[in-house]
Amino acid sequence: MSDRLYIFDTTLRDGEQSPGCSMNIEEKIRVAHAMAALGVDVIEAGFPIASEGDFDAVHRIASEVEGPTIAGLARASAGDIARAAEAVRPAGDRARIHTFIATSPIHMEAKLRMSPDEVVERAVAAVSQARDLAPEVEFSAEDAGRSDIDFLCRIVERVIAAGARVINIPDTVGYMTPDEFGGRIRTLITRVPNSDQAIFSVHCHNDLGLAVANSLAAVENGARQVECTMNGLGERAGNASLEEIVMIMKTRADRYDITTGVDTTKIVPTSKLVSSITGMATQANKAIVGANAFAHESGIHQDGVLKHQKTYEIMTPESVGWTTNRMVLGKHSGRAALRSRYEELGVRMDDARLKEVFARFKALADKKKDIFDEDLMAILSDERAVDTERVKLISLHAASGTGDTPVAAVELEIDGELHKATAEGDGPVDAAFKAIKSLVEPNGKLLLYAVNAITAGTDAQGDVTVRLQDGERVVNGQGADTDIVVASARALIAALNKLPGMHAKSVHAQYSGV
Ligand code: KIV
Ligand code: ZN
Repeated sequence: MSDRLYIFDTTLRDGEQSPGCSMNIEEKIRVAHAMAALGVDVIEAGFPIASEGDFDAVHRIASEVEGPTIAGLARASAGDIARAAEAVRPAGDRARIHTFIATSPIHMEAKLRMSPDEVVERAVAAVSQARDLAPEVEFSAEDAGRSDIDFLCRIVERVIAAGARVINIPDTVGYMTPDEFGGRIRTLITRVPNSDQAIFSVHCHNDLGLAVANSLAAVENGARQVECTMNGLGERAGNASLEEIVMIMKTRADRYDITTGVDTTKIVPTSKLVSSITGMATQANKAIVGANAFAHESGIHQDGVLKHQKTYEIMTPESVGWTTNRMVLGKHSGRAALRSRYEELGVRMDDARLKEVFARFKALADKKKDIFDEDLMAILSDERAVDTERVKLISLHAASGTGDTPVAAVELEIDGELHKATAEGDGPVDAAFKAIKSLVEPNGKLLLYAVNAITAGTDAQGDVTVRLQDGERVVNGQGADTDIVVASARALIAALNKLPGMHAKSVHAQYSGV
């Protein structure tokens, strides 16, 4: 019988730590449902002590998302652990506290200012406390890659004795090479006397581009949980990429004979969802989920693939969920068909939400003949919590042409009142942005403006991501529409709605220079 590798998805925690990738609570819940549908074993839903928002997200995910274990991160301190326990409690017997403390000399001396003995005692106390508060406890030795192996063996033995049942060995700074890292896992498993009472896990960062290779080396040496993220998001250069780990196990089953619980046909839709929510575009040549991952450009390759797909494809695009441009629905499709297709894509919705989404679907189907899976996902990204939005787009007219100065006129409803503005710009999108920004404050500094065609064809929807910065706060907004200027305006307004304290700019202040 083949062995099982547990997939611990940390897109919502480490992934969210990627610069500019913060998600609001509704977005996190959508990602968590998609991860559950994908079939991951554990969702690390956040770091509950970090903020009220993080706590609420973990708590709601633990309450609503069925299937995977729900983990909350906690430093090895009583306050963190109590807060994490409260957040994951609704998951019942699927609740996990993931507590960590650094074990490398540089972290212990310079950051924690603690002796190795103190670190061991703190780790044991944290695990014992967590053991009383949650059914599952995971312990991480932060910066294990640069930790002394004897010390690592010592602390791991103690935390297993205290009740940790998952031992995570992070290469926090992405410093290890595969040989070294695999050897480290092997040494721990063979030298720690009670290692058979725990599952060994790894969490590799990609600073030298080795996160997946190091994770694989660990699996070859006995690790049976890999911590990873969709599209490889994460601190700095990111974490090991979930889709790569899973597809290596599947494609090279001959070598590993290890299975995961992931439904690989949901990988691409999930990747697209994460990319559109975070505003982090996936590079075209990214393995598995990049737009070019299955594109054959050279004549020799095309000829080979036409003669036999396996000449240049080691896995099929369909096996990872590339159903691009597959027409699924059209203007005559009904609500039941829409619900069923969303369910196939891993999105469940109640009747009230389906009603709203169906209205948007019909509006799109009036403008666009063929509705693809990508369009359906874009409808969700673009869906507005209409009742809670403070700024709404009422109308937008933009004009441009050769020799004309582009101009845009917008009408926004801001806190229930109608506001209008016109502006000129370097192109219709710029004009629309200037008009919208003239009506609200704070209106943020534009950090990113990205447009993607969601499907092929000139009637494709444009999917726009806008990233704004106001002080320390960075927010993303998405908008999709067959009209690129409208999509851009929607994306900007979605981002503005996330800026704290955003309000209508008073005319007095605007003109008096106050
Ligand atoms: O990179 C790291 O060490 C982490 C731990 C908190 C697991 O993210
Ligand atoms: Zn990390």
